[in-house]
Amino acid sequence: MKRKVTKAIFPVAGLGTRFLPATKSIPKEVMTLVDRPLIQYAIDEARAAGIKEFIFVTSRGKSALEDYFDHANELESHLRRTGKTELLEILKSTNMDSGAIAYIRQHKALGLGHAVWCARRLIGNESFAVILPDDVIAAETPCLQQMIEAHAEVGGNMVAAMEVPPEKASAYGILDISNDMGSMVAVKGMVEKPKAEDAPSNLAVIGRYILTPKILNNLNRMKSGAGGEIQLTDAIAEEIRRSNNVYGYRFRGQRFDCGSKAGFLQATVAFGLARDDLRAEFEQFLYSLTALRRAAE
Ligand code: UTP
Repeated sequence: MKRKVTKAIFPVAGLGTRFLPATKSIPKEVMTLVDRPLIQYAIDEARAAGIKEFIFVTSRGKSALEDYFDHANELESHLRRTGKTELLEILKSTNMDSGAIAYIRQHKALGLGHAVWCARRLIGNESFAVILPDDVIAAETPCLQQMIEAHAEVGGNMVAAMEVPPEKASAYGILDISNDMGSMVAVKGMVEKPKAEDAPSNLAVIGRYILTPKILNNLNRMKSGAGGEIQLTDAIAEEIRRSNNVYGYRFRGQRFDCGSKAGFLQATVAFGLARDDLRAEFEQFLYSLTALRRAAE
């Protein structure tokens, strides 16, 4: 029987330059979608998928993120005293078990591949998940859970894949497919940020991965790739050449690129509208705003 995937790496050591000046003092991952920080969405998704060990690769200036997972004893007793049980429950849902979280420091932002490699000693010799918290995915069954279920069938390495129009291919790593099996595809190559006419398919890789420890060996040997950074994609591409056991998984759900301003705003609208307590007022506001704009045109 294949061993269950119980460890996840959350690389959160990036500089977040696209959100400057906010990210001068606030880590991108604690920026909030409605009322929850991005990192909470990522943790909830991992928990739903059965992850038990949460490994954060952090950097200088990310202490707000580390503090976020501490028990807020004073706040909890205040809410208990004042009978605010609903808020107390919300707060408790953010608590993590002792020993479930580990923090590893990436001393220099040398790329996503390097960030994952920094966690190698905590991974050991088992398959693990990687979640990029700035890719937020709204889905009935959380994306990583869908992937872990599919991975239990095939093993190997798996990347989340999303269909993109040709003009968007140049923003992603695009899969070269050898066998399309429906929700899963076997991958024979990956092209980083191709022009529309060079894209080998319309399937783009986004921020969810299930990887074998071999990837860490590949990263071990790697020199920096595009932009002087050590790329996770290069280590996965090496695995395709070496062992031919990389799959793309067409997840069911909507992905928001919360690492970009436009994506973050879109996610805010979508998650705001999905909330029972906000929908009516928010919808009314958006409606009048668009009506006003149309009238002005
Ligand atoms: P991004 O490419 O979005 O980079 O990283 P970034 O630094 O976060 O943001 P911008 O582009 O400057 O605005 C994708 C993911 O990889 C992590 C980031 O924290 C993010 O979750 N990462 C990136 C690292 O952990 N270390 C790195 O050296 C680079």
